[in-house]
Amino acid sequence: LTGRGGVLDVQLVAGPGAWLAGRDTRAWGYNGTSPGPTLRLRPGDLLRVRLVNALDQPTNLHTHGLHVSPAGNSDNPFVTVAPGGSFDYAIRIPADHPAGTFWYHPHHHGNVADQIFAGLVGAIVIEGGPELPVTDDRILLVTDTTLDGSGSVVPASPADNVLGREGDLVLVNGQHRPTIAMSPSAVERWRVVNGCASRVLSVRLDGHRLTQIALDGIPLPAPVDQDHLVLAPGGRADVLVRPAGAGTYALVADPYPRGMAMGGRAMGGARRAATVVLATVSVTGRAGSAPLLPAILPAPAVPSGPVSASRELTLTGGMGMMGFAIDGRTFRPDRDDITVRLGSVEDWTVVNASPVAHPFHLHAWRVHVLAASAGAPPTGVLQDVVLVPARGWARLRIPFTDFVGRTVFHCHILDHEDRGMMGTINVVAENG
Ligand code: C2O
Ligand code: CU
Ligand code: CU
Repeated sequence: LTGRGGVLDVQLVAGPGAWLAGRDTRAWGYNGTSPGPTLRLRPGDLLRVRLVNALDQPTNLHTHGLHVSPAGNSDNPFVTVAPGGSFDYAIRIPADHPAGTFWYHPHHHGNVADQIFAGLVGAIVIEGGPELPVTDDRILLVTDTTLDGSGSVVPASPADNVLGREGDLVLVNGQHRPTIAMSPSAVERWRVVNGCASRVLSVRLDGHRLTQIALDGIPLPAPVDQDHLVLAPGGRADVLVRPAGAGTYALVADPYPRGMAMGGRAMGGARRAATVVLATVSVTGRAGSAPLLPAILPAPAVPSGPVSASRELTLTGGMGMMGFAIDGRTFRPDRDDITVRLGSVEDWTVVNASPVAHPFHLHAWRVHVLAASAGAPPTGVLQDVVLVPARGWARLRIPFTDFVGRTVFHCHILDHEDRGMMGTINVVAENG
């Protein structure tokens, strides 16, 4: 769905009965499909969504990764839309919003993992930005779920709630192992979104390297050739794909070790240890000459400061001894955990004191990764999901340059978020 005259008006009905993996199921979708419609907007547009709740439990809507106001009827995670009810969102995309790949999903605390696992996801594309001479531009919105014989989504077990549920079916745009047809001279842009409730994807295309051009929707300063892409739940990567030649290649997700059990053994059962096929790339036809691509894309600069506050946030939970918490506290919607003055720049060190990885996510404002315990992240990149490894840490710089209001930060393993691994942030006006 594309905005016209600066406005995109859309009704999204969240309800059961989506077609999934080639079957008529009791999975959930928006307007009958999972994923729901792709929302295409331009910087400066107004997104108006009437969300209708046809489920038997509360829901709401979050525009993940958009740098928009979290207040009122904008991207406000504290909204509750009761069963049978509806809510009118109005979300203004700032005129200077970067072009890129984002997504939407429910955010009603306690129901988020269930609702995403059941199929309630959709892509958002902010259009504009540098013209890339690509032959195709595809969204690959990856989700996972488990269906029983009658096509109902299987509920999570208590162990799933602790480990983070992973479905038996890994789907691309609601399809099980679709075929992507390409010509040998194609250069395609793939917008890969990890819309899984709790599964980390380590994406790889047999026989190819993937040229990453954007991370979490934001262009990288220079393209980076990757053997594989690690995408935490909620994370995105835009890549350019150039076929190595005619043939059939599997796009797969390799197992990703999220943590250690006692004694240092990798956690998880046999199901987690297997590589899953996401899609098959079928390259046929005659080779021609592929278009040349620009070497450099514009990227936002890391603000140098002054830094008005440095904070440390400690993530705990995951092995049954403690609940899921941030700084020892579980989520309370009516408590302000962090108060920030509008216009300030802060450094947050997110320390993972637990034996499992937790993807840290902040709404509305983007974070620059300054340093991290594992690996060298690309510098100068704005992210919205940062995978903090078991017993590791990440140092983030966050410019709170615009928008006042309250919102949340949380672990994007949504089983953890629903168990309380979420805090609130209130950004207040300079003189307020
Ligand atoms: Cu996709 Cu609160 O996040
Ligand atoms: Cu979000
Ligand atoms: Cu977590």
